Amino acid sequence: MSLFKSNPFAGDSCPSRVAMFASGRPSLPFPHPWNYNEPIKILETFFVDADKESGPARDNRFLKIPFMAPVLVSRDPEMIRAILSATGDKPEQFDRDTLPSTGIARATGKDTLLYANGPMWRIQRKLAAPSFGKSTLFHPERFQEFEDTFRQTVIRRIEALKAYFAEHQTQTFRVKMEAEIKVVMLEMLTNNFFGAQIAYEEIRDRYAPALERVIDHIVKDTVINKIGIPVRQMPSLTREIAQAKKDYAVFEELTDLALAPRKAGRALWSQFKSDAPDEKLRSNVRVFLAGALEATTSFAAWAVAHLARHPDVQESVYEEVRQVDSYTPENLDQCRQLNFVLEETLRLTPSLYFLPRKATADTWVEAKDGRRMFIPKGTHILLDVWHANRLEDYWGAANTGYPADEFAPIRWERLCVKGYIPKNFLHFGFGHGARVCPGKFLGQLEVGLVVGAIVRTFKFNALNPDNRSRAGVSTKPEDGADVELQLR
Ligand code: HEM
Repeated sequence: MSLFKSNPFAGDSCPSRVAMFASGRPSLPFPHPWNYNEPIKILETFFVDADKESGPARDNRFLKIPFMAPVLVSRDPEMIRAILSATGDKPEQFDRDTLPSTGIARATGKDTLLYANGPMWRIQRKLAAPSFGKSTLFHPERFQEFEDTFRQTVIRRIEALKAYFAEHQTQTFRVKMEAEIKVVMLEMLTNNFFGAQIAYEEIRDRYAPALERVIDHIVKDTVINKIGIPVRQMPSLTREIAQAKKDYAVFEELTDLALAPRKAGRALWSQFKSDAPDEKLRSNVRVFLAGALEATTSFAAWAVAHLARHPDVQESVYEEVRQVDSYTPENLDQCRQLNFVLEETLRLTPSLYFLPRKATADTWVEAKDGRRMFIPKGTHILLDVWHANRLEDYWGAANTGYPADEFAPIRWERLCVKGYIPKNFLHFGFGHGARVCPGKFLGQLEVGLVVGAIVRTFKFNALNPDNRSRAGVSTKPEDGADVELQLR
């Protein structure tokens, strides 16, 4: 009996146990083939009835199945920060747990910045860092190329839209913005970041759809492919496997196109100093292509979905961006309202909704407020950023002036007036600590550019009142940011 009741954790922030089976919960507290496409519900299951409790156990829960390592789920912002700060390659630090990304590793390779831990991760991080640095990307000429590519694409899309308006004698157009955003994000990534020269139409019709299906396949593969055979080596027994094999082949083609400009040192390759042969870099290039596309699309699609439901906020961003004639990093930095919108978007609807960690040793972690938690070696840890960012007593009216579950960019204005220090108020939208997102500056610039230009060009309103989420590798608006557009 004690096997089922004992608590392997300890400390004044000791988590409480969730039952494996119980009625009245949104899901079972672990992924399986029938619930894997509703991961936010799985996380929610850990905190059903939690609000009736008080104390730190309210936000820290664990699941323990006999003879298996425990699973800790935390939505406690201070504990999340403490665990992220104690992640790295030093002895006894936490690893990034590879369990939730086995599908990603099968698709991209294991020796990547995302999947590797320990010394291999450190080598990869040092290699990649210069291409992503603020000083590299905040170079006006460098970013000018991103802006030019984007401007040309936007001009072509507006022309197409005007032709549609003329033909159909209308002034409005219904469109799922997520799909449009995905194509321009991939275009900037392949053509500006990697220096490839792929036509917009080819990205839209061939590469973006194949990559989208690969990413969907990765999610399913993580839960269902227990035998662990990469799709490339599977026989084409079903139509689904045959399609997946075709999509993976297109992904390889795209990886070749992204690697090709390396020889000539085009685009950000000029910052990359390594003698490693191209073959050694393939896995990381795949991760950057799929990961960056997924995260930037999610972030920008969410921002549009929120603005589409808040016309007043949309107007205040418009008043700001209409003055901007060129989206240089400095000009984007000055757009206060736009930056509050982006900050609030990542808080309320973070693209990466949980951060996985694993305890490499028996570890005591201490939060900034002095609370401590003992975590046994081998524990799988899910840092539940989605729910942490909605905790009322942390992000709610008392601290920020607005309810935690509301989209209110103005709360950031309030926080600024109160003299808050950003490092004390973290939403973990780009992670934190040694494994913080290296693509943060690139991502912020791209998303700022895309969202700023959309607001400047169009007025848009949501066609569904609810702004629900769906989640896979990242979160997205459930309706694909379905809006009605009108040219300004
Ligand atoms: C703008 C949208 C983006 C968001 C919201 C985002 C979010 C994140 C987060 C939260 C992490 C930390 C994961 C963890 O702690 O477990 C992360 C890591 C990472 N991101 Fe991003 N990211 C974005 C854009 C990008 C871009 C543009 C790239 C590359 C071109 C990129 C590449 C990576 C890589 C390689 C890691 C792993 C780093 C490591 O483990 O050392 N991300 N990202």
